[in-house]
This record gives sequence, structure tokens and C-alpha cells, in this order.
Amino acid sequence: MVYTDKIYEVGERPPLGVIPRKMYAWTIRNERLGSPETAFQVELVDVPEIRDDELLICNMSAGINYNGIWASKGVPKNVIDSNGDYFDEKQDFHICGSESSGIVYAVGKDVQKYRVGDAICVGGLKYDAKDKAILAGMDPCFSASYHIWGYEGNYGAFAQFSRVKECQCVRIAKNLTFEEAAAAYATGVTAYRMLSRWEGNTLQQGDVVLVWGGAGGLGLSAIQTVVAMGGIPVAVVSSDEKGELCKKMGAAGYINRKKFHHWGNVNQLSEREYRNWIAQATKFKRMIWKIVGEKKSPAIVLEHPGKDTLPTSLFVCGNGGMVVLCGATSSYKADIDLRFLWLNQRRIQGSHAGTLEDADKYIDLVERKDIHPYIGKVYHWSELPQAHADLENHAYNGKLVIQIGVK
Ligand SMILES: NC(=O)c1ccc[n+]([C@@H]2O[C@H](COP(=O)([O-])OP(=O)(O)OC[C@H]3O[C@@H](n4cnc5c(N)ncnc54)[C@H](OP(=O)(O)O)[C@@H]3O)[C@@H](O)[C@H]2O)c1
Repeated sequence: MVYTDKIYEVGERPPLGVIPRKMYAWTIRNERLGSPETAFQVELVDVPEIRDDELLICNMSAGINYNGIWASKGVPKNVIDSNGDYFDEKQDFHICGSESSGIVYAVGKDVQKYRVGDAICVGGLKYDAKDKAILAGMDPCFSASYHIWGYEGNYGAFAQFSRVKECQCVRIAKNLTFEEAAAAYATGVTAYRMLSRWEGNTLQQGDVVLVWGGAGGLGLSAIQTVVAMGGIPVAVVSSDEKGELCKKMGAAGYINRKKFHHWGNVNQLSEREYRNWIAQATKFKRMIWKIVGEKKSPAIVLEHPGKDTLPTSLFVCGNGGMVVLCGATSSYKADIDLRFLWLNQRRIQGSHAGTLEDADKYIDLVERKDIHPYIGKVYHWSELPQAHADLENHAYNGKLVIQIGVK
């Protein structure tokens, strides 16, 4: 390996075997916290050194997600203050980005599967692979050492190079480009785990799945995955145009949520208001039955808006079914009517990211069914703050990605 003081511009790649000492990165610093437009700035920083179980990746493309928005705002946590807590040295800057595709430029001596020159996908779930409980068979997503790369941990994907652990890496599906691979990984693996991981409530052939935010990054990916796994996706969206896109991507139909008004917490409603809430939620459930063509309620509800929708998700879920939740875009302070949980023996299950096993199975599915993620927009490297602002404003459907290895 040769180290060089030469500065490579974004889009230029050093030859394999050559590693620059400095790289361009979009950094966040404490004094700039507030919004993606102010918080993110390009700086020249040191290329991180790798440890024995780590790889140095030359990023080609990276997915945009809410982690960058929250990190820019500094809420619910200040990522700069805590970035030394997760296998990294403490720095006064933070490099975000939790989903990437790129090329391996260096490997530590304990890395087994990958070699310099391999094209790989990097996911956000990072953990200590030597954790005794994991070695004994525990799901790594339950490990105390697990955290999200590029949010809780530093040296994420929004840089020319990233330092990652082998347990974050998977091969790129043969049918995908670098941009598609970066777009597919996080939402695809998250959706796949939500549908396949939770024993007793895994997706079965012909099951109905309600997908909130059907035209969003996670939503479109979930619709494709449900179809590929033999289920019947029903999308919820905020416009007919988005609904038609969901149908094009495989949804059996859609519900325009703007036609309903029973959103948010239920515990502050008066008895009269709550009766009205039940009437609205019942109408919503009947729309699902109408789309499906029979009185078949969702076996799985894929939930992520949180506060606004959780009471409805639980109400419309089939008996013995599962509301599986991976986020809370509208607020994490939600409430529910507990009767619908125990009387109908439904389950609320949290789900977060996915393991290497989930990722491997998802990539197999992507190849077997020739799934291509729906990319709303591919941004140039220089447009990274705008990409986050667009995500926050829901400016595009589908997944947003930036190019890094392209001029
Ligand atoms: N835990 C994990 O591993 C993981 C992984 C990926 C994503 N997530 C989370 O999943 C969520 C969605 O991510 P994404 O990338 O799909 O975002 P996205 O592209 O912005 O899509 C989210 C969609 O949710 C819908 N939505 C927003 N607010 C809503 C509300 N109050 N009520 C109902 N629907 C609402 C919107 O669709 P309409 O306006 O059309 O309804 C929006 O398009 C985020 O909270 C994200 O953090 C978690």
C-alpha cells in the first residue's frame, strides 16, 4: 500500500494500492448545527486509519436518509458529542451517511471475505463481531455494542473514503448499479427484516400488508419486497399521483390519507370524539377490504410515521397480526387503545435495520426477482445539503442518493 499527499478531487479515484492522506468530506460541527443547509460543509480531513477488523472503502454512491437531518439539527442527540463512544476516536466533526456502495481500498488483517478491488455495499448496522453473545448465536441487532454507522458512529458515507467493519459489508447484487445498490440497501434490508424476521408473524403467501408512506423510500422498497415474497401490498399515501406510482410498483391499491382526519394521539379525545375516531378508522379498514376484494385485514402493518398513525395501524391489523415499526417520522410520543392489542391478540414489534443474514437473503431476492429500487433523484456530491432538505420536505418519491465517485 502506498500513501500519497496528492489531493484527489471528488470523482477522481486513486489507483488501487494508493491511499491519499487527505480526503474531502461533508462534515457537521457543533457551531453549525441547525439545518442540513447550514450544518453540512465540505472540509479536507484525514483519511481514517483502519483497524484489523476494518476496511477502507472508496465511496461511489450513498443513500440519503433521516439520520443526516437529525444529525444536522443535533436532536434527538448531538452526534458530535457522542461520536467517540462507538469504536472511533473522539473528533470535533462528524461525517454522516449510513448507506453506501463503493470499492474496497484496504483491508485489515482480520478481514476474511473481502479483498482490495471488491465492489461492496455498506449498511448502517455496526457492532462488535467478537461479542460473546453474538458468537453464541444472538441476533447482532440485539447486541449492546450495536449502533448505526454514520449517525452514532463517525466516518460515515458522505466522504471520499469511509472506515467500516466487515460486519457491515455485503456484495452488490449483480443486477444493480452503484447508485441502485446504495439506494436499495438500507430501505430494502429494513423492509425485508420487518417482513421476515419476526417468527409467528412472517409474511406468508397471499398475506395482506399495509404499507404507510407507500411512495417513500421505505414504502416503495417494501411494496416491491412484499410482491417478491408473494404478499399483497396496500399502500397509504397523501395523493392520487403517489398512489398510482405505488400501483405501478406492485401495490394492489392505495388509500389517500388526506381523505381521513383521525390522526394523532387518542388519549386526549372525549368519548364523542373517540366514537367519531372509531367510525373513521372503521371506514379506513373497509377501504383496505375493498382494495383486497374480501374482508381480509392486514397480517402485517408496516409502520413508520409513528404518533399520527399508530392507533389506526393497530385498529386495522388482522387478529393475531403484527404492527411492525421502524421509525416515527411524525413523533415518537404515541399512544394506543390497549383493547385492540390484547382482545385481538395483535403484536406491536419494533424492527431496526437488518443483520448480514437479512442482507444476504434480501440481495438473493433482489437478484432472483430482478428488483430495481425506485430512485427519486440522483444528486451530485455538491448537492448533499439540498438532498437532505428535499427528503425533509418530501420533494420526491422513492429513494434519494448522491454520487461520490463521479465528477
Ligand atoms: N429503523 C430503520 O432501520 C429504518 C430504516 C429506513 C427508514 N426508517 C424510517 O422510516 C421512515 C420512512 O423513511 P423513508 O426513507 O421512507 O422516508 P420518506 O421517503 O420521507 O417517506 C416517508 C413517507 O411517510 C409518509 N408520511 C410522512 N408523514 C406522515 C404522517 N404524519 N402520516 C402518515 N404518513 C406520513 C409520507 O408519505 P405520504 O405523504 O404520501 O403519506 C412520506 O413519503 C423514517 O422515519 C425513517 O427514519 C427506519
